[in-house]
Amino acid sequence: MNSMFNKIVVSCIFVAVFFMNGHASGQIMPKTPFNDGGIHEGVMTCYGSTCHSRQEATGITVRQNESLTWQDGTSTTGAHYRAYKTLLTERSKSIALRLGLFTPAHEAKECLSCHTDGIVAARRGAKFQIDDGVGCESCHGAAGDWLSRHYEVGASHKTNVSRGLYPLEDAKTRAGVCLSCHMGSEAEGQFVTHRLMAAGHPRMSFELDLFTALQSHHSEDVDYETRKNVQSGTRIWAIGQAMTLKQQLRLFQNPALNRDGIFPELVFFDCLACHREISDDPNWRPVVRQNPGRPSLPGIVKFNDASMIMLLATARQIAPDLAPSLEAQIRAFHSSISGNGSQSSATQALEATTNALIKRIERTNFTKAQTLDILDIVVTDTLTRRYTDYVAAEQAIMAVDTLLSSMIASKQVARIEVSQMRKEINMAYDAVENPNTYNQDQLTNALRNVHARLRELR
Ligand code: HEC
Ligand code: HEC
Ligand code: HEC
Ligand code: HEC
Repeated sequence: MNSMFNKIVVSCIFVAVFFMNGHASGQIMPKTPFNDGGIHEGVMTCYGSTCHSRQEATGITVRQNESLTWQDGTSTTGAHYRAYKTLLTERSKSIALRLGLFTPAHEAKECLSCHTDGIVAARRGAKFQIDDGVGCESCHGAAGDWLSRHYEVGASHKTNVSRGLYPLEDAKTRAGVCLSCHMGSEAEGQFVTHRLMAAGHPRMSFELDLFTALQSHHSEDVDYETRKNVQSGTRIWAIGQAMTLKQQLRLFQNPALNRDGIFPELVFFDCLACHREISDDPNWRPVVRQNPGRPSLPGIVKFNDASMIMLLATARQIAPDLAPSLEAQIRAFHSSISGNGSQSSATQALEATTNALIKRIERTNFTKAQTLDILDIVVTDTLTRRYTDYVAAEQAIMAVDTLLSSMIASKQVARIEVSQMRKEINMAYDAVENPNTYNQDQLTNALRNVHARLRELR
């Protein structure tokens, strides 16, 4: 897994000069714990051995050892507790210095907005501590109105939600919350720009279902099912892709975020579109490859379209009526980046279809046959020709892993059947281990092996 987060080493850089028009976005920022106005009481108020800090997961309704899982220093489940501590490291100190920030990282709004529960001082309760990092209420919502009432007799998930608890079991709500930090938002300082990355911040990569599992501190047992509506992993994956695209398009239309000096904000584009090899050797051939779904001229910086590709795979299975227009709109969007046609109408058309698809995804139950079809589309020729660049390749292999796990979880396939294909899956992971040495042929071959194995699951 860690290999997926390899940092980009820059060998040589083309500087592409191009211009885009900033468009005022008609989109409204969804409600997140950062803008809902409530009081955040702080992690301390969730503590207590009769509350969420038992040593063992012995609770009747919920595990009740959530705090310890959230703090676990040995696992990815502890990432959000570590987030503040990260700001005290030498690496963060140098990032702040290189950026020319006037305050150290652990005091800078530019870092605290994501590495802590970065709400304004007026909304912090008496026990709130900024060094708790990304605390419970950063995801579960301001507890001011429900803290003392959510365990009382008669309280239910519904009453809690009406008092401000976030229904995180709902994939759309969850995606909105995670993406505000894992992609960024309009909130002050909550956006990782290309400048931040060039100062040493890691590249960001996110996939809703996989990342949920990596930070999980809950059990979807029988009790959970009676309280909440359990969604299939495949649906969570698909909603995650659609919401990622929506957020990306929304921020991309925001004039306050989409420019940096005389250039467009580069973080929206495919990193390796610029960070490629260059040579003076007369026998050198350009490394860029033709991508059938992404009409673009040589030398034009490509938009990061990983979520578009994954959403298209979903649409081909569950919404064959919408898939052709989605495909056409994606092409028109890429064309508009090269200056052909109106960028704002291309972006808005794509947003509208994405919204229509979210509704379809929410109505789809994702049977075994449907999930296998989507996997088939992700690993076969129709799409593999589109994995010319690293970001889409990375999402493709995460999709293979996520969708297979989802079928295991919903007992559509047996774990043993999937473990028999580990070798093939690992070969595909190897092909995307290092962004700088990514080779499309290697990935395509590996996915072909995965495809052969998938047929045995039918
Ligand atoms: C938009 C939200 C956001 C902002 C703003 C932000 N970060 Fe991060 N940061 C993240 C996320 C998310 C990760 C984890 C990336 C991953 O692994 O996918 C991360 C990872 C890191 C890491 C690597 C941690 C590790 O253990 O590998 C460092 C260091 C870091 N951030 C420092 C900073 C500093 C310093 C600032 C301010 C200058 C900052 N970040 C601003 C969201 C943000
Ligand atoms: C990064 C976001 C995030 C943070 C931070 C976080 N949680 Fe969660 N939590 C989730 C998600 C996602 C779920 C699963 C979806 C749901 O709510 O049912 C969950 C589930 C839970 C559940 C189980 C709910 C149930 O109905 O079974 C409890 C209890 C819980 N969290 C408590 C906490 C506590 C206490 C903290 C702080 C120590 C915390 N969480 C921090 C995201 C988060
Ligand atoms: C307030 C901002 C914030 C929110 C909201 C948030 N995260 Fe994070 N997340 C971070 C930061 C910052 C890091 C990196 C922490 C570090 O290593 O310093 C991180 C790290 C992680 C990691 C570990 C990644 C790795 O490479 O090790 C996972 C998994 C994760 N987040 C999942 C989620 C999920 C799922 C949600 C939504 C339910 C979510 N996060 C919501 C800020 C946030
Ligand atoms: C439009 C072209 C372009 C795109 C797209 C782009 N970069 Fe850059 N990148 C540059 C330029 C130009 C520089 C500055 C080089 C310099 O300082 O001389 C740079 C610098 C960097 C540096 C610092 C390199 C160093 O050695 O100082 C990092 C790291 C980096 N980019 C990462 C990324 C990541 C991650 C992405 C994708 C999210 C990305 N870049 C997308 C053009 C691009």
